[in-house]
Amino acid sequence: TAVRTAGADRDRQLAQVLAEGKLVKDEWEVAQLQAAIDASVLGFEDVARALPADRPVSERLIEGVFGLRARHDGNDVGYGSIVGSGQHAAVLHWTRNDGSTRPGDLLLMDMGVEGQHLYTADITRTVPVSGRFTPLQRQVYDLVYRSQQAGIDTVRPGVRFDDVHQACMRVLAEGLADLGVLPVSVDEAMDPEVIAYRRWTLHGFGHMLGIDVHDCASARKEMYREGTLGEGYVLTVEPGLYFQPDDELVPAELRGIGVRIEDDILVTRVGAQVLSAGLPRAAADVETWLSTQRAAGPRLPG
Ligand code: GLY
Ligand code: MN
Ligand code: MN
Repeated sequence: TAVRTAGADRDRQLAQVLAEGKLVKDEWEVAQLQAAIDASVLGFEDVARALPADRPVSERLIEGVFGLRARHDGNDVGYGSIVGSGQHAAVLHWTRNDGSTRPGDLLLMDMGVEGQHLYTADITRTVPVSGRFTPLQRQVYDLVYRSQQAGIDTVRPGVRFDDVHQACMRVLAEGLADLGVLPVSVDEAMDPEVIAYRRWTLHGFGHMLGIDVHDCASARKEMYREGTLGEGYVLTVEPGLYFQPDDELVPAELRGIGVRIEDDILVTRVGAQVLSAGLPRAAADVETWLSTQRAAGPRLPG
């Protein structure tokens, strides 16, 4: 067992060295990521064109339409597509995708094309199936949007990974307080021992992105989660809010709503570049985009 332990230990060391070596993406790698993201933008457009405003379709139709784009333009999807309509959007890794869209619901889609050289995109959009957000859906969406923007605005070389997290979570905590949901003050909620918002945010702000969707996961924590960002890192910024259908701590009208917005960000010399800017994020822009895509009609790759 001594030999086996030593072997496992050296495997871990190798994984760590490789992961830390992958933190900085060179120009060729960024081009691969951009190609995968550009194909994903087309895939989201295909989906918008196939999503009716006035009748249900299965979540797997959406998964399949995106999957066709991924297989045609890239290698495959980079991870199992998450397509959650209505209360399925509040389930964190909803990949069963065996529900249906419903006019009036929000539809959460977390999908990414893996390109020919196996670099993958990782993008989430949450859209109103009917074409327009209800005032309450819009309120939750705008809150997640402001949180994501605060995170993106924080990104530049030298900031701590956790600074981005805190920026995103503070906006969400403030918004939860405004909604009357947060059981303590915002400052108390932000205490790392308390994190009273976690019930509704469920996950961190994001992760490194590259050949693996959760890239560089074997890096030492002081190099990654407890470290600082460097020029050439690529990461996701993907805050969300999730209200479970049976959550008695929130007003009934919020229950069953899930929103996440996820973009792929390159750390530049001076700040952040949103590589997935080909898809709109602001609520009004999402509505316009959806109606433009629908007006253009269905499209096959090629
Ligand atoms: N699609 C997996 C993730 O967002 O981390
Ligand atoms: Mn992600
Ligand atoms: Mn994702």
